[in-house]
Amino acid sequence: MKLFLLSCIITLSFAQDINPRKFPPNFLLGVANAATQIEGGWNEDGKSESIWDHFAHNFPEKIADKSNADIACDSYHKYKEDVALIKAMGLNHYRLSIAWTRVLPTGRTDNVNEAGVQYYKNVFKELRDNGIIPMVTLYHWDLPQILQEEMGGFMNESIADLFGDYARFCFETFGEDAKWWVTINEPKQVCQVGYGAGRYAPGIKSNGVGDYVCAKNLLLAHARAWHIYDEEFREKNQGKVAIVVDGSWAEPGSDNEADKAASERALHFGVGLYGNPVFNGDWPELVKQRVAERSKLEGFSESRLPAFTDEQIKYINGTSDYLALNHYSTMMASDSEAPIGQPSFDNDISARSWAKPEWTPTSQWWFYDLPWGLRKFLNWLKNTYNNPEIVITENGYVDNDDTLEDDRRIHYLRGYLSACLDAIYEDKVNLIGYTAWSIMDDWEWTGGYSSFLGMYKIDFKDPDIPRIKRKSAGYFTTIAHNRCLIDLDKCIE
Ligand code: BGC
Repeated sequence: MKLFLLSCIITLSFAQDINPRKFPPNFLLGVANAATQIEGGWNEDGKSESIWDHFAHNFPEKIADKSNADIACDSYHKYKEDVALIKAMGLNHYRLSIAWTRVLPTGRTDNVNEAGVQYYKNVFKELRDNGIIPMVTLYHWDLPQILQEEMGGFMNESIADLFGDYARFCFETFGEDAKWWVTINEPKQVCQVGYGAGRYAPGIKSNGVGDYVCAKNLLLAHARAWHIYDEEFREKNQGKVAIVVDGSWAEPGSDNEADKAASERALHFGVGLYGNPVFNGDWPELVKQRVAERSKLEGFSESRLPAFTDEQIKYINGTSDYLALNHYSTMMASDSEAPIGQPSFDNDISARSWAKPEWTPTSQWWFYDLPWGLRKFLNWLKNTYNNPEIVITENGYVDNDDTLEDDRRIHYLRGYLSACLDAIYEDKVNLIGYTAWSIMDDWEWTGGYSSFLGMYKIDFKDPDIPRIKRKSAGYFTTIAHNRCLIDLDKCIE
């Protein structure tokens, strides 16, 4: 009897943890990846060098294992195998990106690389033949190196027109196949890490100054692409275009007002810098005020955060047909003093990011398996941006161990998917899709081949670059088939 009671309690607590509802009928359930990280063929058939090719080739010391993406998963040749895996998993969508350098090697429309265009047409055909919906990112960090050299990339306002031309080219060429578009992936990583801290390509160190210039130009570039779609393609192709924002949830470090304010600052500088102009118009007020105040104290004649004109505010506002979110983790945020002096994005935020000692450590200092953070984040986005349609465009488990028995990944996926169901059914968040990162291990930027997020392991040392099934691939397959996280017969419609 005692044993029976105990097992009831265990089953009950398990059942309480995992939401028993089914995913809604049209819910998108898929996996993601990006051109640089999987394709390889970095200079094949007319592809030009991107800023990440250049960065890895010239500064290998900046990549954890000194590697590059020259071959990566060889998806340039193995895309049919990749699509077959996605199909076998029973997934209904695949987020992939187009390499600007593969279709327009000069970065401009004067020189179309037909072989590159044909590659993506082949990929789209393969997806279509297998009933998988593509979600296509135009810019997943791989600016043509020549544009960085010729005009300074995102530091130059004319990037908006160049990106617009590239976007129009893709909408025209692939618009019949692709209805879900993402303009730019994770602008914060592009600007704050690429043009501010300088840890990512193109490696520009202009913290607290150049990163804000980049942010403004990037938003104008995104808006340009959205308007082009809206005016020239929407009626014909009936698709949707969004920008991806990324961030960790910032949980207030205590009930103090100061810590609550620190959490809001972390969110508004992190996500709001890009989300607010697109969903509400203009930079978030608290970001504007804070950077202006600090700039003045630092002796600048005007704010380091460049202002938008009224016309630009209007042009950018409303340019996301859904909210695309990349989310991996949660951290605590407490108020902290940041000295006036050296301008820096982090000093502008002045929030200390920390982890609770009871949280299970992982291979990364910033990464914890805390699904409640995703649920809070989704609610924050719902309330801050007027209840938009939301697609989670990335979420997944980072490991430095490439084991096939990836129970930690399964634990993470189960918890985060359950948090999605809670958000949908309990909180009425308008969440319409979930995309796991990633279908397979890949080249993880500065993490090289030493950071693993795949449901399939890639043996990068084997010349055939085989895809090897992990336990989590089986788990995700069952979910995709059942569309539910618990036993099918106990699942609630
Ligand atoms: C990026 C991906 C990357 C993932 C995991 C995201 O920031 O969009 O390209 O692989 O994080 O590190």
